[in-house]
Amino acid sequence: MSEKLHIAVLMGGWSAERPVSLMSGEGVAEALESLGHKVTRIDMDRDVAAKLAAAKPDVVFNALHGTPGEDGTVQGMLDLMGLKYTHSGLVTSVIAIDKQLTKQSLVPQGIPMPGGHIVSTASLYERDPLPRPYVLKPVNEGSSVGVAIVTAEGNYGNPISAEAKGPWQEFDELLAEPFIRGRELTTAVLGDRALLVTELKPKSGFYDFDAKYTDGLTEHVCPAEIPDEIAEACKQIALDAHRLLGCKGASRSDFRWDDDLGVEGLFLLEVNTQPGMTPLSLVPEQAKKLGMSYPELVQAIVDEALEADAG
Ligand SMILES: Nc1ncnc2c1ncn2[C@@H]1O[C@H](COP(=O)(O)OP(=O)(O)O)[C@@H](O)[C@H]1O
Ligand SMILES: [Mg+2]
Repeated sequence: MSEKLHIAVLMGGWSAERPVSLMSGEGVAEALESLGHKVTRIDMDRDVAAKLAAAKPDVVFNALHGTPGEDGTVQGMLDLMGLKYTHSGLVTSVIAIDKQLTKQSLVPQGIPMPGGHIVSTASLYERDPLPRPYVLKPVNEGSSVGVAIVTAEGNYGNPISAEAKGPWQEFDELLAEPFIRGRELTTAVLGDRALLVTELKPKSGFYDFDAKYTDGLTEHVCPAEIPDEIAEACKQIALDAHRLLGCKGASRSDFRWDDDLGVEGLFLLEVNTQPGMTPLSLVPEQAKKLGMSYPELVQAIVDEALEADAG
């Protein structure tokens, strides 16, 4: 087996996804301990650099989600400190956290993503940015935070009434995208390999924050019961997106598939560079179906981090 290391697991932080990150981090820490590594758990706060400098780990496992652990900020700090770390580096993280920058990077390379554009929240009260149904979402949140689907004529008023309550009120700018009807698919990439396709079937109809994290509210079908052609397309697009953005470690690409349109109906929504890593999360679940245990997955992500230059 591989050498025993001292690994700092960064988790928590102050994003909306803090509770998920604490679960990812604890899962990872326990897996690393089960493999015989020495683990220092760090709940990230403003003193994180001092804590890392004192711990002097061989490598950092980044189990943070959202800002600032997924947006390049923590990656830049780790680069400056000369510490090796798991998952994507600074530039990749800056691009992938931003759904508009991701589109601008990937669509010209032939990756199918929904159209759409940035709108000011104030403009929504004047006119709809797109024909209904459409989706409004913040450019750089995760976990479906702030996502609204604007559907029928009567939904929030038409145009949206300034009095209507909606998640867009928290943001000055939003990404407006055509609503892709149909099914919700996701594919993990680990290193140079796309894993499987999982279909997510939320019982409520919308794959929102609660559906993502409340046990039993979303059924995971893995591998997804979809035609081979669609599964292969998901894997190829996820692998291409991972490579084009320069992702490291594990990434997870989220898709919508309009099953009335065949492969033409498949659209990449986003690439998650810090995907959920609890033992029950989607990436570990796909790895497990392929015969890779959770500790093996965590070790593989660490191994890739050790191969990289400290920067
Ligand atoms: N263009 C779209 N068409 C249909 N559903 C969408 C669209 N964009 C987002 N959604 C829904 O919102 C969820 C969250 O959107 P996503 O872009 O993956 O952002 P995040 O997961 O970072 O919040 C998706 O899983 C999907 O259910
Ligand atoms: Mg998503």
